[in-house]
Amino acid sequence: MSNLGFENTDTILMEERLFPPSPEVVERANIMAYMKSKGFDNYENFYRWSLEHREEFWNDMARELHWFQPWHTTFQWTEKPFFQWFVGGKFNIVYNCLDRHMQTATRQKVAYYWEADDGSSRTLTYEDLYVLTNRLAKALQNLGVKKGDRVAIYMPVTPELVAAMLATTRLGAIHTVVFGGFAASALEERINDARAKVLITVDTAHRGGKLIEYKKICDEALANTPTIEKVIVFKREGTEVPMQAGRDLFADELLQDIPNDTVVPCEEMDSEDLLYILYTSGSTGKPKGVVHVHGGYAVGVYATTKFVFDIKPDDIYWCTADIGWVTGHSYIVYGPLLNGATGVLFESTPQYPAPDRYWSVVEKYKVTIIYTSPTAIRGLMRFGEEWPAKHDLSSLRILGTVGEPINPEAWMWYRHNIGRDALPVMDTWWQTETGAILISPTVILPLKPGSATRPLPTIDAAVVDKDGNPVETGKGGFLIIRHPWPSMMRTIYGDPARYRTYWETIPDVYFAGDAATIDEIGYFRIQGRVDDVIKVAGHRLGSMEIESSLVSHPAVAEAAAIGKPDPVKGEHIKVFVILKAGNEPSEAMVQELKQHVRTNVGPIATPDEIEFVTALPKTRSGKIMRRVLRARELGQPLGDVTTLEA
Ligand code: WT7
Repeated sequence: MSNLGFENTDTILMEERLFPPSPEVVERANIMAYMKSKGFDNYENFYRWSLEHREEFWNDMARELHWFQPWHTTFQWTEKPFFQWFVGGKFNIVYNCLDRHMQTATRQKVAYYWEADDGSSRTLTYEDLYVLTNRLAKALQNLGVKKGDRVAIYMPVTPELVAAMLATTRLGAIHTVVFGGFAASALEERINDARAKVLITVDTAHRGGKLIEYKKICDEALANTPTIEKVIVFKREGTEVPMQAGRDLFADELLQDIPNDTVVPCEEMDSEDLLYILYTSGSTGKPKGVVHVHGGYAVGVYATTKFVFDIKPDDIYWCTADIGWVTGHSYIVYGPLLNGATGVLFESTPQYPAPDRYWSVVEKYKVTIIYTSPTAIRGLMRFGEEWPAKHDLSSLRILGTVGEPINPEAWMWYRHNIGRDALPVMDTWWQTETGAILISPTVILPLKPGSATRPLPTIDAAVVDKDGNPVETGKGGFLIIRHPWPSMMRTIYGDPARYRTYWETIPDVYFAGDAATIDEIGYFRIQGRVDDVIKVAGHRLGSMEIESSLVSHPAVAEAAAIGKPDPVKGEHIKVFVILKAGNEPSEAMVQELKQHVRTNVGPIATPDEIEFVTALPKTRSGKIMRRVLRARELGQPLGDVTTLEA
């Protein structure tokens, strides 16, 4: 193949297990069409060109969307590290997700097949979603929601959740979606940080057969959320839930007098106006409200969906994530809708009611593109090849993963059992902060198991030492990005100083918080976090959140949480606990503390292991050295312990 882009083919051939793309796929690839329009048939040369023509590339992408008014400046630093994209443009992402499609055949196309937890389904066309979104926008408007207001959303993966996000955005209000796996105090903390005015939720729902009492959890949170004026409750299951007069309103009652032909025009936003806040865990302190904006975010997720998943008009695209995480925001809601794609919305879990749930969904909706997590794959591997073998998976053409490093064994299993030894696996690296995929193959690149391959066009990624100098080929270092891209977060909500730290850890570059290596052919392998962020089943948690929950228990004096390698979940949580005088370590205490974190932070944060100790390693200034705990636990060298308290 002449167009693969690597001069030295011998080096490639010496690599173990490099899977070349199929020539037919390369020929038809969206990215290839764009490359050819710029005079390239080789990714390496095109990528190098894109680093020099960053603005031209993103202008081309932005022009494929609808602007009420075009931008006059593509990119500008305001006050470094703050920046803007598409300055002067007037835009609304929802106009591009819905209204634009009302003038084309996409209007009658399926926007989503909804697969509910119990296996029932519902189909919504783009027109259906447009109608629901407009009616809900009207209802929100009637309650006084306007541009700039914050709306919190705490719901299972349903069409109503998508409509709630789009209705909020339509009005120019800002959504903050909280994942259903977080408990009341986590919800409360996020609502208060965002100072949300309205909360949208459901009565109850089941996920993986387990009951989640959404409204009840909301009520607990709402005891301490003074900014919330109204709570809108969708009847997901029709269960009886207490409703507080004057505050709580059923969605069906709000909507009943709003006719189907209601249109609430999209607010014409500035490119840089806030679109959403999504909370994510840092290494220390409370969760950070990552801020994304209308213009750049839309352009970034539009382009990456189109190029990485190679979306074509007749694809059935399924991202298995929960919308409560950034993966769902970018690659279930905004990216696919901007591309006019047909998606699957999945309310359930991989192993419910049996370990072939995923494969039955692929067969049922004839899914062509599936995007899931390494944890889901490793979890399903344990049950054996017979589960996928029961299903017709021949509709599939592209596989994807995200959220944590994928080990080559899981990658190979995925390609072999789900991809019939032929389909490309897109191992996509990105973060809540990056908004969109930054390092990932496209269907034109040869693939290496466990490698996210190359940065996408214009993304100037490198692996460096602590002073910012690139490390030698094959050596580990810190992953950094040298220049902002359109879908990059703009700030941390209410805490610009915290945003600055991303660009100050290593001066003038974006510090991702991951370790990585680059091999002889320029392929990146992302190894995981270098800070105290823990990735449990791809879910991002901070040591501090778990520790502060534990010390809120009356028996606990001090606690330290670390991530420990786990064969399925990637990492699991181990905590070291010092009990207060008068409390004795016991199995009952272990169970009680696990339960405490579960109800306090949420089921996803439940520790797997608890060890009672009498001291914790600390620096002289009193900071817990989790790195030392981790090294001890894994029997590794302790590294630099010169600051360790004597
Ligand atoms: C962290 C970001 C991006 C959407 C979901 C996660 C890890 C993500 C990969 C990958 C290795 C990965 C990193 C990153 N991560 N994708 N393909 N290979 N690690 O978003 O919750 O903000 O987490 O997830 O450690 O920093 P997030």
